[in-house]
Amino acid sequence: MRGRRSGESPAIYPEGSFSRVLPVPAVHWSDDRRALRILDQRRLPEAEVVRDLVTVDEIIDAIRALAVRGAPAIGVAAAIGLAVALRHAAVDADARRGILAAYATRLIAARPTAVNLAWAVRRLEGRAAQVPDDALLEALDAEAEAIRAEDVAMCAAIGAHGVPLLHDGCRVLTHCNAGALATAGIGTALAPVYAAHAAGQRVHVFADETRPLRQGARLTAWELTRAGIPVQVLPDGAAASLLAQGRVDLVLVGADRIAANGDVANKVGTYGVALAARAHGVPLYVAAPWSTIDPATTSGADITIEHRGAEELAPLPPGAGVWNPAFDVTPAALVAGYITDRGLVSPPFTI
Ligand code: MRU
Repeated sequence: MRGRRSGESPAIYPEGSFSRVLPVPAVHWSDDRRALRILDQRRLPEAEVVRDLVTVDEIIDAIRALAVRGAPAIGVAAAIGLAVALRHAAVDADARRGILAAYATRLIAARPTAVNLAWAVRRLEGRAAQVPDDALLEALDAEAEAIRAEDVAMCAAIGAHGVPLLHDGCRVLTHCNAGALATAGIGTALAPVYAAHAAGQRVHVFADETRPLRQGARLTAWELTRAGIPVQVLPDGAAASLLAQGRVDLVLVGADRIAANGDVANKVGTYGVALAARAHGVPLYVAAPWSTIDPATTSGADITIEHRGAEELAPLPPGAGVWNPAFDVTPAALVAGYITDRGLVSPPFTI
């Protein structure tokens, strides 16, 4: 194992030492805790734009447009967003519960595939049901902050549980962005990478470009280079060749929803990577917080896959149709294991 020299990136977790990876966390409160603060991911890597959002329309727009994205991050954004939007809604206390229900429904509909979004909103609704009207706003703030802080801790735990799967000199292939930008903490799939790096191990990351919105090229490569971790971006279509050439030790990906049988919805293209990894004997691990496991979803066939607009594939000749699913489903049989905050697990997820 290689010792860390002065001048290299420091250990980047627990919370408090984000400055070396992100200029600000991907999702947080504003300083006065009256707004949702996000790092606008549409602008990366060219510009680091921080935005404070307060209305439910602003927050829904940011989630739909992928200004804030990644399953855990949109859960945290919806939680903080619901709390601040309700505080800013010009309604008296009597009307608040009705507004809360309406906002909750709209937020959950913003993106359908990542279960963390509905999970976080339902948690706030559950808390709201337990408190009197005059304690509602404070209770929602506290629950949203608990969700955010838990996400930070879950990321750190995923890193700790995943790091034994890596070795010094390890070559990791990842797809999309399941790093710090996709969570309130250090990420899911990238958490073991950051943990290994912090422990002085050399890790080399191959980041699939991730068409059409290029989260791998724009986001994963951006945060890894900031952390001083070597990263090579490849076109999605090159991943199978890379695996065939024996240049990958393991594949680490995140998840938007894990069905009860272990099928995994993640960024479109993950399934192809999983097939190629299996064909070439490379293990694929899914890293996700426990909140991404959805016991109410029996299998991948029951997961709603978000379809996005034709403009993401532009330019196209007039008259060309588009099929643009944002996610696909990787069958559980192609997954070597699930790295969660509760440890390395496999279905049925009973612990
Ligand atoms: O459409 P996106 O960018 O929100 O998709 C993100 C992914 O597919 C991630 O891999 C997943 O949400 C896990 S993030 C820790």
